[in-house]
Amino acid sequence: MASDPPSSALDAVADRLRCPICSDSLRRDDRRLLCPAGHAFDIARQGYANLITGHRRHRGDDARMVAARERFLGAGHYRLLSAALAELAAAHVPIGDGIVVDLAGGTGHHLAAVLDACSHRYGLCVEASAPALRRAARAHPRAAAIGADVWEPLPVRTGAAAAVLSVFGPRGVAEVERILEPGGIVVVTRPLPGHLAELGRLVGGIGIDPRKPERLAGSFRGFERLALEQVTRRIALGHAEVHAVMAMGPSARHLTDDQLDRAIARLPARADVTLAVEISVHRSRRGEHGASGR
Ligand SMILES: C[S@@+](CC[C@H](N)C(=O)[O-])C[C@H]1O[C@@H](n2cnc3c(N)ncnc32)[C@H](O)[C@@H]1O
Ligand SMILES: [Zn+2]
Repeated sequence: MASDPPSSALDAVADRLRCPICSDSLRRDDRRLLCPAGHAFDIARQGYANLITGHRRHRGDDARMVAARERFLGAGHYRLLSAALAELAAAHVPIGDGIVVDLAGGTGHHLAAVLDACSHRYGLCVEASAPALRRAARAHPRAAAIGADVWEPLPVRTGAAAAVLSVFGPRGVAEVERILEPGGIVVVTRPLPGHLAELGRLVGGIGIDPRKPERLAGSFRGFERLALEQVTRRIALGHAEVHAVMAMGPSARHLTDDQLDRAIARLPARADVTLAVEISVHRSRRGEHGASGR
């Protein structure tokens, strides 16, 4: 018999969500979230609520990419990154019970680390990918997961979040600002030039967008920067791990597993790979002059 979904985290954050159709409040009704007007959203067997409405424009990562991400993160290769995210979030998040929202949070891996460091808070992974959501719903006892497109208005109430995480994923800055409580923080991780560069050279597949630094600086102009930290490290990866890190990235969309394996066969049994990422923490100035809304 199928076990019940891990639903207590979803119950705990339901009052921080809003209907994606009419923006009114949502409440749990057995296997659905319901708004007063009767708009209903299914809760999947795995425990995440699907709040995507109408035509799905972004499906997020497919099952193969998500499985690769789970393998790579599960092996602990980004442990330093998770630890730095957790430390920075815990140090700067405002006091209170605002939730931690992980935008395009994938499997919820980093959110779980942050929730461990913020012992009373609940978290919410917002993701478009169904295979990722299945994992995110079980990532942590205090983590809920919802299906939503981060390029659309988020089904999260205005001012509900004390912290937003954006780790290597898409984000709409206006919505980040709206869902943050006054004084709330956004923790952003982006790759630095050189990140996974050895693998990019291998298949010419993983390219780091050189315009990212400007875009990041520009996009958080209305925020106050509280911290900036670089996490850099060289790690030795075997072929299976190289396969996983490549299969979870953009090159996976263009290459089959066989093509990847043929390229990887040219590497030594253990290849040195550079991890180079930057984490920045920004505080919202919204609410300094008063703000309201759903
Ligand atoms: C590079 S992965 C990062 C995942 C996670 N933050 C991590 O670091 O493990 C990007 C994630 O964005 C999700 N994604 C892509 N487009 C999206 C969208 N429009 N709305 C929500 N999620 C999206 C993908 O499914 C994928 O899980
Ligand atoms: Zn509604």
